[in-house]
Amino acid sequence: MALLEDLNWRHAVKAYDPSKKVSQENIDKIVEAARLAPTSSGLQPFNVIVVENQELKEKLVKGALNPECMRDCSHVVIFAGWDRYTAERIDKVYNHTTDERGLERGRFGSYTDKLKEIYLAQPAEENFAHIARQSYIALGLALGEAAELRIDSTPVEGFNNAVVDEVLELERLGLKSISLMYVGYADTANDWIAPMKKVRTPKDEFVIEFK
Ligand SMILES: Cc1cc2nc3c(=O)[nH]c(=O)nc-3n(C[C@H](O)[C@H](O)[C@H](O)COP(=O)(O)O)c2cc1C
Repeated sequence: MALLEDLNWRHAVKAYDPSKKVSQENIDKIVEAARLAPTSSGLQPFNVIVVENQELKEKLVKGALNPECMRDCSHVVIFAGWDRYTAERIDKVYNHTTDERGLERGRFGSYTDKLKEIYLAQPAEENFAHIARQSYIALGLALGEAAELRIDSTPVEGFNNAVVDEVLELERLGLKSISLMYVGYADTANDWIAPMKKVRTPKDEFVIEFK
């Protein structure tokens, strides 16, 4: 029930109050929700980058379609995915998992061999499309956690990926930006969408039930 209340409370904020900062403790909780997100085969093929530094935010503003939000929010969270799957990346994740569980490395070898067979045969773009889909689950959970904490946020695809990738030097890390999340406290006088009703496709149209 609480989750539904949180989801009804939140909305995609259109103006932030630059004087209000989100505490590090709460940012950590929002990021933790993203870290705990389920991913296909548990690969977690993306990183979450948190930008609080105003100078860096100003550089990112060049790539934003809603620059005021980027500038005025407390933190910008960037979801950046692996540019492609590699054997090394898959092995690193599975070695970490077996080490953490006290199992011998290679315990899941036949499974990871299958993953490599499938993913490494695909073009990088197909890998990246799959990777991006995983990251949206994390974005959703981070939005939910922010709402639970009564912290405002905006999920954002309206930005220039090339600018964000360049400013954050993501290529060097083998990453590409996917989505952003502005986090902060709304400027209630200018957040024009706040008073409007939350509208969703009616349930009987949205849900197709076979009973
Ligand atoms: C993946 C994704 C990308 C979005 N990109 C933007 C964006 O670039 N700019 C913006 O103002 N809102 C963006 N939104 C917000 C949606 O427009 C908003 O979530 C939707 O209209 C529903 O409204 P609500 O979130 O306020 O309930 C995005 C939402 C999602 C989930």
